[in-house]
Amino acid sequence: MTASQWEIDGLASGDWTHIGGHSNAQGAMAVYRTPDGIVKATQDEYSELSLSNEMEALGVMSGSGFAPEPLHSMADKHLAGPRYASLQADAGVSEPITDGEAFRRGMIKLVGAMRHRRLRHGDLTEPNLVIRGNHPVAIDWQESHWIADKGPQKQPWTDSFMAMRDVAGIAAADGQMDTPRVARRWLAVLTELGATIHRGGLPLEGQAFVDFGCFMGDFPALAVIEGMVAAGVDAGGFRTGENSIKIGRGIWEDLHPHPPVLFESNIFDWVADNSNPFEVTMMFSTFPYLVQQQGWEAAERLVSEIIARSGVFFFECQLAGDGPGPERFQVDGNIARWLEQWGDVKALVTIPVTGRPASRTVFSVR
Ligand SMILES: Nc1ncnc2c1ncn2[C@@H]1O[C@H](COP(=O)(O)OP(=O)(O)OP(=O)(O)O)[C@@H](O)[C@H]1O
Ligand SMILES: [Mg+2]
Repeated sequence: MTASQWEIDGLASGDWTHIGGHSNAQGAMAVYRTPDGIVKATQDEYSELSLSNEMEALGVMSGSGFAPEPLHSMADKHLAGPRYASLQADAGVSEPITDGEAFRRGMIKLVGAMRHRRLRHGDLTEPNLVIRGNHPVAIDWQESHWIADKGPQKQPWTDSFMAMRDVAGIAAADGQMDTPRVARRWLAVLTELGATIHRGGLPLEGQAFVDFGCFMGDFPALAVIEGMVAAGVDAGGFRTGENSIKIGRGIWEDLHPHPPVLFESNIFDWVADNSNPFEVTMMFSTFPYLVQQQGWEAAERLVSEIIARSGVFFFECQLAGDGPGPERFQVDGNIARWLEQWGDVKALVTIPVTGRPASRTVFSVR
């Protein structure tokens, strides 16, 4: 493909730089950066199908801010050289991430925007992200399909699993090690729920989810993009002078299909006032504060009540010596034994807490 055909048609002009593409048994596809956008061109039918599929997906994503805008495509009758060529907006070149938390939240909103449009990207790897100003844009939509379909299985994993896998693989330059930790804990939850492999549809859709001690609502937001009916409860004040629920409502107001419901409430009161059952509940790094507020027996009764009303309960707690960790929890085994009074307990993942001589384990109770 020469630039001249496009110059004649007034679509793309000037310097073309070859920046990517591939060849395989079916044929070849070439990617160029031009002053007018990214040109992808192919000679073969197989790549034509996947490139036109990409342009359709970019059309569905148009206006979201999470995918390049589709600009133009041409089939063979108009082209001298290639069989098919497309022009899409240039998302630019990735910059280093300076705010891991913003990037992680951007990835949640990216998957939310796709699923809101009932699309699956299907190949959400790091090379297929352009990250600028900590904001991710997904490129390379050639594998994409409606989420209800099984689709091509280049990556068998769900987009949300891939997204959090990408986040977990990135250590933030600003040292926010909570960024990979949130992602890894959610990967453990999705794994236990059997929701990591794409089989068509969203397996957790419609299930009730509550995060007790949700801070700014990151886990409820992750549950929303699985299609869950997701809520978070938090008293709000964690760092002095901050109201995490108010901040969280601001952070997630543009989450699609909708923001999580965040309650600013004492967890004891909320559980007493709400009698409905939940499919999935979690309590991460919150139990010691409940013990501080109302004593061990009351906090234990609360956990017992939540587990009784939950299909599955996910629990993580500081060990003694890690901040407010209770004296009774010297080692992970102490937490496991304690949880076993209510059901079958599994230790899912153990993650070091940076800056503390400690790690924390996520357990499930069924
Ligand atoms: N819209 C875009 N904006 C900026 N860069 C892009 C855009 N589209 C593609 N690129 C660049 O071109 C490279 C190759 O494009 P793309 O990922 O779509 O195809 P590919 O990876 O070669 O194909 P495949 O994954 O099917 O082998 C990307 O890694 C990226 O660097
Ligand atoms: Mg690619």
